[in-house]
Amino acid sequence: MVIEANQPKLVPDWKSLRKDFPILDQQVHGKTLIYFDNAATTQKPRAVIDTLKNYYERDNANVHRGIHELSNRATTAFEAARQRAAKFINAASPEEIVFTRGTTEAINLVAQAWGGANIQRGDRIVLTEMEHHSNIVPWQLLAERTGAQLVFVPINGDQGMLDLGRLDEWLINNVRLLALTHISNSLGTINPVAEFCDRARRQGIVTLVDAAQSAGHRPIDVQQIGCDFLALSGHKMCGPTGIGVLYGRAEMLERMPPWQGGGEMILNVDFHRSTWKSAPHRFEAGTPDISGVIGLHAAMDYLDAIGRKNIAHHDQELGAYAYEALLRLNGVRLFGPRIGRAGLVSFLLKNIHAHDVVTVADQWGVALRGGHHCNQPLMKKLGVESTARASFYFYNTTVEIDRFVEVVKEIQKFFGVS
Ligand SMILES: Cc1ncc(COP(=O)(O)O)c(C=O)c1O
Repeated sequence: MVIEANQPKLVPDWKSLRKDFPILDQQVHGKTLIYFDNAATTQKPRAVIDTLKNYYERDNANVHRGIHELSNRATTAFEAARQRAAKFINAASPEEIVFTRGTTEAINLVAQAWGGANIQRGDRIVLTEMEHHSNIVPWQLLAERTGAQLVFVPINGDQGMLDLGRLDEWLINNVRLLALTHISNSLGTINPVAEFCDRARRQGIVTLVDAAQSAGHRPIDVQQIGCDFLALSGHKMCGPTGIGVLYGRAEMLERMPPWQGGGEMILNVDFHRSTWKSAPHRFEAGTPDISGVIGLHAAMDYLDAIGRKNIAHHDQELGAYAYEALLRLNGVRLFGPRIGRAGLVSFLLKNIHAHDVVTVADQWGVALRGGHHCNQPLMKKLGVESTARASFYFYNTTVEIDRFVEVVKEIQKFFGVS
């Protein structure tokens, strides 16, 4: 899905936004830092850093339990963040927002609580070949426990696209769940998740969208996507590490049993049995990451002040610019679609190991990532062990990409493969 219609009118001043990120203003190995590892985690603006500092300096207390002023303040801020998260993804109500440690924990929650109650021997769970390990392994664990079967929708080689037209071939015979990523962290493919969910829903199949790479990069509207579940990670969208969101449609969450037991999630506890709160508190056992939730609120405010439509346009410009620049070099193998890609490029330079590319790039001050990117099955499908990846965010510039391409040329020269 390429964002084309309704070009945003107010284009942000990207250069001055960059100043909001103190960490970017530094030298690494004597060179100006170019941070191109945003798909792993994004940097944090001063607004988020200050929010965390203020919370610990003024309001820190445990939530939901106390009656004193600080506890009331912390609880109010915590629940305000839930409302903010609902607005951020256009959930119908804050009760559809469960705070988790991140995308991984959100998917594990669904696999254990929903999967444990609904999946049986002979059922099929449909994933795609481009899924991150966190959208594969929880389903493998569930399949091992229940005797269900995993099925993978294939990609079309290095272009890394799924064939929506053939999806119905996979949605047959006892398929109970379709779980897929919105944006591939290795390929930069942007999947038309609304269309995928629509096809599944028409056959009564439950849907989960992994929005780890998309939530901070483009507008997300869970009602328009029509998914039953959606997972996101705060740290990939300017928020703190260790906090994320599971969106679950109210009627799904209400019917799910708890997945972890402890304080906060109960109504009444006896020596031999307990009763649960309603969703979302039923799924939030123990003291939550209160500062993380409050920091995430600040991140969502920050991103929406810029406008996620603006960010999506900027991402696509940077992604296309980098892809075309690398395409002009000799001996570069590029992964993912040429048109309509997200703001990242995955590549290989002939037989140079991706780790070597990243190690040399680091000496030039360019932070890349090399490896399987938690996509080992995808790498096997592509017939490679790993790729090097440059992933961008709105504070990155085409000037940095020009510099990165010069560094790639230096690496080719260094290894004698240009
Ligand atoms: C597509 C995708 N899904 C899930 C995850 C897991 O996110 P987290 O480690 O924040 O739980 C990632 C992280 O890189 C990702 O890129």
